[in-house]
Amino acid sequence: MSNTSEAELLHTFKGIPFTTRSSPELLKSLDTFDAREDDVLLVSYPKSGTHWLAGVITKLYNTQVTITSPIEFGDISKLEELNKLSSKRIIPTHLDYNMLPSNFKNKKCKMIYISRNPKDTAVSMFHYYRENPNLPTVDTWTAFFDLFLKGNVVCGSWFDHFLSWEEHEDEKNILFLFYEDMKKDLPKVVKEITLFLSLNVSDNDIQDICKKSSFSEMKNDTEKENSDPSHTVCALTSNRKLIFRKGAVGDWKNHFTPKQNIRFEEIFNEKMKLSKM
Ligand code: A3P
Repeated sequence: MSNTSEAELLHTFKGIPFTTRSSPELLKSLDTFDAREDDVLLVSYPKSGTHWLAGVITKLYNTQVTITSPIEFGDISKLEELNKLSSKRIIPTHLDYNMLPSNFKNKKCKMIYISRNPKDTAVSMFHYYRENPNLPTVDTWTAFFDLFLKGNVVCGSWFDHFLSWEEHEDEKNILFLFYEDMKKDLPKVVKEITLFLSLNVSDNDIQDICKKSSFSEMKNDTEKENSDPSHTVCALTSNRKLIFRKGAVGDWKNHFTPKQNIRFEEIFNEKMKLSKM
């Protein structure tokens, strides 16, 4: 990673690297955010399937809902901008639990956390770093692998992020989902989401929504559109075309060397020893 780019593109807040697309003033003010009881949060570590989940969720409502840009994206005017929205808000975020505005916690807003095998997440993030001008240059997979394991990447350590949320997994207003489960049986996961959000959606409609949310459909839809700055649910880019790369489970096997796999497993087992995962 080139230091010049890193200094220009990233800054650290409370020990976590953010892109300069998240202003320090906004990050400092997040705790003053006025949550509403019916807000729904879509939470993820980057590259975990956030856009896929957002695509599904917006199709479940037959009332007006607005999927906002991520709460940590922008400058201080962001809070006012979200305040002005009159419709129900679905708010994406990559924040870890400790940085989440406390109003969301106090008001027991519904939150959906989507997680993905960290090996595939690392590979997806590596390609994202390579393609995304808002992120520092990274020369090789080997170099990125080290940065990822050290948590020296945007949004910090995958392990810390996951653990901060997993600690709250049993709270009734938090639903934990896995990318791999969505790949295996999307209708089942969508049903679970409708129950959690108390939405009445028929099995036929669920089947239809799942078809429209396949990787190829979503990728095609995106290629037909012009990129719209309010159109991603990722604080790291406005370019939707960067999101739909491969959409597969297990791509890590095409990147990890056997040695890297052993090292990853060792660190995973150590960091996750108190996790239920
Ligand atoms: P890959 O880079 O492995 O392809 P996020 O939305 O959190 O940024 O996550 C992006 C990842 O989700 C990318 O992974 C992307 O291809 C994958 N993805 C997006 N839409 C998908 C879909 N409909 N089905 C499966 N995977 C999808």
